[in-house]
Amino acid sequence: MTPRKTTAQRPVSADKLTRDEAAAELQRLADEIARHDRLYYQSDAPEISDAEYDDLRRRNDAIEARFPDLVRPDSPSRRIGATAVEGFGKVRHRVPMLSLGNAFEDEEVVEFAARVHRFLGLDDSDPIAFTAEPKIDGLSISIRYENGHLVEAATRGDGSEGERVTDNVRTIGEIPHVLKGRHVPDVAEIRGEIYMSHAEFKTLNETQAASGGKIFANPRNAAAGSLRQLDPAVTASRPLRFFAYAWGEMSALAADTQHGMIEAMHRWGLPVNPLTRRCTSTSDLLKFYADLGQKRAALGYDIDGVVYKVDRLDLRERLGFVSRSPRWAIAHKFPAEQAVTIVRAIDIQVGRTGALTPVAKLEPVTVGGVVVSNATLHNEDEIARKDIRIGDTVVVQRAGDVIPQVVSVVLDKRPGDAQKFHMPHVCPVCGSHAVREASEDGDSEGGVVRRCTGGLICPAQAKERLKHFVSRLAFDIEGLGDEKIELFFDEELIRTPADIFTLQARDARSNTPLKSRKGFGEKSVDKLFGAVDARRKIGLERFLYALGIRYIGEQTAKDLAAAFGSLPEFRKAVDAAVAGGKNSEAYADIDNIEGIGATVVDALIDFLSEPHNIEALDALLAEVEVEPYVRTTVASSVSGKTVVFTGSLERLSRNEAKAQAERLGAKVAGSVSRKTDYVVAGADAGSKLAKARDLGVAVLTEDEWIDLIKA
Ligand code: IVH
Repeated sequence: MTPRKTTAQRPVSADKLTRDEAAAELQRLADEIARHDRLYYQSDAPEISDAEYDDLRRRNDAIEARFPDLVRPDSPSRRIGATAVEGFGKVRHRVPMLSLGNAFEDEEVVEFAARVHRFLGLDDSDPIAFTAEPKIDGLSISIRYENGHLVEAATRGDGSEGERVTDNVRTIGEIPHVLKGRHVPDVAEIRGEIYMSHAEFKTLNETQAASGGKIFANPRNAAAGSLRQLDPAVTASRPLRFFAYAWGEMSALAADTQHGMIEAMHRWGLPVNPLTRRCTSTSDLLKFYADLGQKRAALGYDIDGVVYKVDRLDLRERLGFVSRSPRWAIAHKFPAEQAVTIVRAIDIQVGRTGALTPVAKLEPVTVGGVVVSNATLHNEDEIARKDIRIGDTVVVQRAGDVIPQVVSVVLDKRPGDAQKFHMPHVCPVCGSHAVREASEDGDSEGGVVRRCTGGLICPAQAKERLKHFVSRLAFDIEGLGDEKIELFFDEELIRTPADIFTLQARDARSNTPLKSRKGFGEKSVDKLFGAVDARRKIGLERFLYALGIRYIGEQTAKDLAAAFGSLPEFRKAVDAAVAGGKNSEAYADIDNIEGIGATVVDALIDFLSEPHNIEALDALLAEVEVEPYVRTTVASSVSGKTVVFTGSLERLSRNEAKAQAERLGAKVAGSVSRKTDYVVAGADAGSKLAKARDLGVAVLTEDEWIDLIKA
C-alpha cells in the first residue's frame, strides 16, 4: 500500500473547517494515526517520519480544540501511545530459566565432577552418570503445552520473565503444535534452543542484501532477530530450527533421568540433538568434548561447547542451584576465537565505582562472526605485563559474550614508533586524583585498579550509576539506553535516579519538551514515559541491586532481600549498624547473614552514612514503591526460621544441608545468637553448641532436623 499523503502538508486551517469537514477529517486522522501506530509498534516498519506523525497528531489536536464535542471515542488524543499498543507481552516463568556455569579447561570439568561427588557425600570412585550434549549457540525458549497443545512460548528474558512469542514460535516448522503419543503430561513446558543452520543463514543474508534488508552478523543474531519480529509473517519466512534439551513445569515426569526425558521429548515429536550421549566417567566426558571439537566445523550449525548434566533427576534435586546456575550441570566451552589486528589508541573508561579501565581502540576486525573494535586491557599492570603499546599488532579473542580481550603482542610486527602507555593519575573526566588500590574482586592475576576519588562529583561515575540503575537486572527501563542516559545527563535532565521518574512531569512544563526536539518523536517519547511508569513498582532485590552499592551484585542483593524481607527492615538494620559501628550487635546481625561478609556490611554502612545518598534514596522513594521480597521457596515447617549447622553431619554434606534449608525458606546463619531458632549439631560440635546451650537455643541432632523438615 502506498503511504497516503497527509493533509498536514497544506491543510485548511482548523479555524476555517466546517463542522462536517471537521468530523470527516477527525475520522480520517483517527484511522490514519492508528495505522501508523500499528506500523511503528507492531511491525517495526514506519512509513512516515516522526515529524510527519507528530504533524498528524497536532492537526488532530487543533481540530478537537475547536470542536470539543466531536472528539471521537477512538481519538488518538485519548490513547497514550505506549499503553495503547505494546510490543510483546511479558510471561513470568513458573520455573526460572537459569544459566550455566562455565568450564574452559579439562581440569575444571574434573573439579566439577568432584564437586558433585563431594556435595552428594559420595566417594570419587562411586560412578555418577552424566549426559554430554552439544551446546547449541542460539537462543533459549520455553514452550508450554497443555493437554498436548502448544499454548504459549516465551524467550528467556532475565530468567524470571521473558517475552511472549507464541505466534512466532508457531511458525517454526520443526516445533509441533500438538505433541504425539499417549503419555504426554497435561502440562509440559519444553525448553530448548532455537537456532539457524549455516547454509540457511547464508541464504538469508543473501536475500536480505538483495532486498536492502538487515544483514546479520552471525546465525545466532539472525535467529534472535527473526524470532523477535512483531509480525509473525516475517518470522515464518525465516528458516528457524529447534532442539529440545530441558523442561520447566511438568505435571508429570516421563522419566527419572535426563537421557530418559530426552527420549520422551523425542517420542512426543520434538527434535532432539542426535549427538547427545550418556557418559559414566570424567574421561568419557572429556573424550566426547574432544571428538565434538573435531566434528564442530562440519555440523552445519554453531555450537560453542558441550553441556554436561547429572543424568539422575533425584540427584539433581538434591544438588539444587547456586545463584542462577544448577550445581548439576556445567558448560564446557570451546576455546575462544582469535584474530590479529592493530591497537590504534588506548582510551580510559571510568566505571560506576570509579575504576579507570584502559580500553584498546582497535582497527576493526571480525572475530568469530562479530566485528570487534574495542578490547579491555583491564588495568595498568596488565598492560605492562603484556607490554602492549599503541601501534602494536595484537592477537585479540572473544569467547561467548565476554568482552573482547587482547591476548598477546606480535612483537615481530612492532613498529619503531610504537608508544608506551602511561596510566593517568587523575580522572580524565572530573580531574580528581586517581589512586591505585587492590582490585575489588581480588583479581586472580593480582591486578590493581586505579580509582577516581571523585565519588559523587564525578560525572562519569554518576552516568555509569544511572546506566546500572536502568539496566536489565535492575529497573530494566526499556528505551533508556546508554546513549539517552548520556544525553539526558549532559543536558541536566537526569542527574539522579529520582529524576528519571520526574522527567515526564518536568517535560510537560518545559518550553522545549522532548518531543519538539530533533531525534525524538511523540511516539518514542510516549513509549519512554510508558516504560518508566511501568517500573514504579519494583521488587526489593532488584531495588537493592539497582542502587549500585559496591560489592552488592545480583546474588548479594537477593541474599539481603531474603534476609530482611522489606526495605524498611533493611534500612532499620543498616541504620542501626551505622549508629552502632563495627563492634555493635547490629553490625554482627548483618555480617551473620549467610553469603554476607564484612566487606558488604562496610559498603552498606558507607553508602547509608553519606547524606547525599540518603537524599537521593528518599527522593527516589517518593517516586517508586518497593515491594517486599517474595520467597520462591516452598512453605515448610522451617520457613522464616534461622538455623546454624555445626559439627560434622553424616546424612547430608554441610553444603547440601544449607542448600536444602534455604530451599525450605530457612535462613542459614554462620554463628549462634539470640535470634537463632535451631542449632543442628553433628558429631564433635564445639563452641557453637556450647553457646546455643548458654542462650537456651533449641539444639537438634541431624536426624531430628531431617524429621522436622519432613513434617
Ligand atoms: S541446559 C538449567 N542444555 O546455554 C540449565 N543449555 O549457558 C538449562 N544451551 O541458556 C540449560 N545448548 O540457551 C542446556 N544442551 C543444552 C544447551 C543449552 C545450548 C544454552 C541455553 C542456556 C545457555 C546456558
